[in-house]
Order: sequence, then structure tokens, then C-alpha cells
Amino acid sequence: MTVRAERPGDGGAVHRVHEAAFGRPEEARLVDALRYSKAWIGGLSWVVTEDEVVVGHALITRVEVDGAPALSLAPVAVLPECQGRGYGSAVVRAVLDAAAATGLPLVVVLGDPGYYARFGFEPASEYNLVAPWPGVGAAYQVLPLPAYNGEPQGHVTYPEEFDELN
Ligand SMILES: CC(C)(COP(=O)(O)OP(=O)(O)OC[C@H]1O[C@@H](n2cnc3c(N)ncnc32)[C@H](O)[C@@H]1OP(=O)(O)O)[C@@H](O)C(=O)NCCC(=O)NCCS
Repeated sequence: MTVRAERPGDGGAVHRVHEAAFGRPEEARLVDALRYSKAWIGGLSWVVTEDEVVVGHALITRVEVDGAPALSLAPVAVLPECQGRGYGSAVVRAVLDAAAATGLPLVVVLGDPGYYARFGFEPASEYNLVAPWPGVGAAYQVLPLPAYNGEPQGHVTYPEEFDELN
């Protein structure tokens, strides 16, 4: 297994990983759209490969919390036939390490706490962070980064590319 930042030319393989993992095209299209958006931060799109084939991907992009800059982990995917072998955990840990180096304060994620708690994610409600989607409850989580100092708090705003997800 090799974990590395995305390189030029990985886009097609990354698209296929998301399409296969989610069983629908929306997340794959989201990644494609984010890549050319203001939310993209170079160096925060990571892949995991096996025999030089991309088998997993994790993306962190820019969001705002009450107008202040922060980060969002989404989406994360591993090819169905490769799941449960540690690829997802490896690529998520790598992209979170890279996020810590940005100096930004936190990363939010919407997902199963049973999966994301292992990376240090905690309930976003305990940090006064409010998702733009009602009713997500404990699925909305936050990882405070080394630069976190108690702020920002408030409503999280995602780039318009996320509007296509449901
Ligand atoms: C979620 C996903 C990225 C995990 O990747 P992976 O390579 O299978 O994960 P790992 O092998 O590193 O970790 C496996 C562990 O995660 C758990 N896990 C996997 N998917 C999970 C999910 N959707 N919810 C909760 N736990 C999950 C497994 O039970 C296993 O737990 P264990 O370590 O306690 O045995 C992958 O299963 C996937 O692509 N799923 C479909 C897309 C998706 O739901 N993405 C996340 C939402 S953005």
C-alpha cells in the first residue's frame, strides 16, 4: 500500500473509486467539480494505491464557519472489493496530517461516528458547530487541529458544489 497526495492524471481513477464505492455518480461528480472550485486546496487530496492502482481517496476542501476559514473531509471512498483492509484508515490519516499543517483550525465530517471516532473526530455539537443540513445529529463531527483555539463556532457553510448531493 502506498499513500500519497493526488498527482496530475489521477482524476479519472479517483472518479471511478467514488462511483464504485457509493454506487452512484454524485460523489464522483462532486470531486470533479471541487477540483476546479475555490474550495480546493492543493495537497489535501490524497490517494492510496496498491500495485500503483488507485484503490482509495480522501478529500479535504475549504468551508466557512460563520465566515471564518475551516476544512471539510468529504468524500472518502475505497473500491468495494478493497474495503475492510485498512486502505480507508490509511488515506484518511494521511489527509488529516496534511490538513494539520495548513494552520487552519478544524475539520468537519458527516459520517458514521463508529468509523470517524478512530481518527479523533468528536460530536460537532460539543464545539457549537452547526451543519447546514437539519437532523444530521451525531453524524456531524469535528476534528480540532493543532491551530484550534476555541474558535470558530457557528454555522458551517459549504461551497455550492455540495448542493448537488442529497
Ligand atoms: C467508509 C470507507 C471509506 C472505509 O474504508 P475501508 O478501507 O473499508 O476502511 P478500513 O479498512 O480502514 O477500516 C475498516 C473499519 O471501518 C469500518 N467501517 C467501514 N465502513 C464503515 C461505515 N460506513 N460505517 C461505520 N464503520 C465502517 C469497518 O467496520 C472496520 O471497522 P473495524 O476496524 O473496527 O473492524 C469504505 O468502506 C467506503 O468506501 N464506503 C463506501 C463509501 C462511504 O460510505 N464513504 C464514507 C462516507 S463519506
